Amino acid sequence: MKDPNHLSTLDRLRGQVDAYREAAGLVTEVENPSVLLGLLPSAARGFLVKRGKQGVPSLMTSGHETYFDWNYTADMPEMRDLYRRAKQNQWDAEVALDWSTDVDPENFEVPILPYEFFATERMRDVGIDIRRGSREDMQLRHDISSWMLSQFLHGEQGALHAAAQVTESVRWMDGKFYGATQVMDEARHVEVFHGYLSRKLNKLYDVNDNLFTIIDALMHDSRWDMKFLGMQIMIEGLALGAFGLFYKVTREPLLKELLKYVIQDEARHVHYGVIALREHYQKALSPRELAERQDWAFEVALLMRNRFMAHEVYEERFQGAISRKQWNDLVLSAPGMTEFRQTMFERLVPNLRFIGLLDDRMEHHYAQAGLLRYVGGKNASQLTGDEMLAELDARPLAGVSDGPQIALH
Ligand SMILES: [Fe+2]
Ligand SMILES: [Fe+2]
Repeated sequence: MKDPNHLSTLDRLRGQVDAYREAAGLVTEVENPSVLLGLLPSAARGFLVKRGKQGVPSLMTSGHETYFDWNYTADMPEMRDLYRRAKQNQWDAEVALDWSTDVDPENFEVPILPYEFFATERMRDVGIDIRRGSREDMQLRHDISSWMLSQFLHGEQGALHAAAQVTESVRWMDGKFYGATQVMDEARHVEVFHGYLSRKLNKLYDVNDNLFTIIDALMHDSRWDMKFLGMQIMIEGLALGAFGLFYKVTREPLLKELLKYVIQDEARHVHYGVIALREHYQKALSPRELAERQDWAFEVALLMRNRFMAHEVYEERFQGAISRKQWNDLVLSAPGMTEFRQTMFERLVPNLRFIGLLDDRMEHHYAQAGLLRYVGGKNASQLTGDEMLAELDARPLAGVSDGPQIALH
């Protein structure tokens, strides 16, 4: 393994070329030209300028409208009910979680992630020998879990801003009430993930360029439903899948408890997202506008599946020792990442169907990408957080879990 401080000039140059190649890869990966055009300015800021990695705040201009309703009419009973439940289920992260828990992310007896999540012994094929349970294995698991939790944190900040903007823009009074609770929820999620990373893992990674690109595009988009679709359905859908998997496989009790709370909040958020967008997409959009959302959702789903490769971990640990392509292959075939993609699409695809973005026109695209098999699952309006957790607890995970799970209930 290479110390990143001792990279040769050639290695650094290679790293730079790889980053440009990855940005250029967007052009070939996104097949729909208008979706691609919409993403390019954000991709330039993400991949080339690396605005999320400069160590300074980013300013993102958003031209959305604030919608005032002077009648205060109760107009959406399902949203009002979510608002009621959200108020009743607020929790204080300082009180609800036991922050005195001693967390050692490199203790193989209480691993954050099981060995099978990445299965380091597969790296022998590319000339790197990391034995199961060795110090290097545990350090890598520490890095990968910190990387993933850091991306959760950055995604939560995106959700915080998007929830605030959408609360201003939606036309349902009950939607504004509910949205306000979500803003509070997202602030708490930023608080707990940042707290866990800084107090327990002592490691925080920069925002991944792909995640930055999607968040940047959503923040700049003035249409509230695009922010909603991107954050509430796509990114939160992905996050919910990832939270569920982490919740299921981690042996570390504080993280497990933290995720249990966050999952219950997120289940409400996605529920709100699907009822708001279903209503909006059925009643307020022209066929052309609807088709634009359908294409966007499909392309972004594939980007999220194909491009979350922990490159920041690669650059820190393995750049110069193995190629980026070798690293990508290792990540793509890792049992944990395979399970992660599966869990993510199980949640996402039924929601896209429910809100009208996976219709007859789109079906063959999803079939070609191997995603149509998820279409019959429950959408977010049919699944509460408790039901989601019960389902996760009952479900066996092939290949990702080593040893008995800790029980919290
Ligand atoms: Fe959240
Ligand atoms: Fe959320």
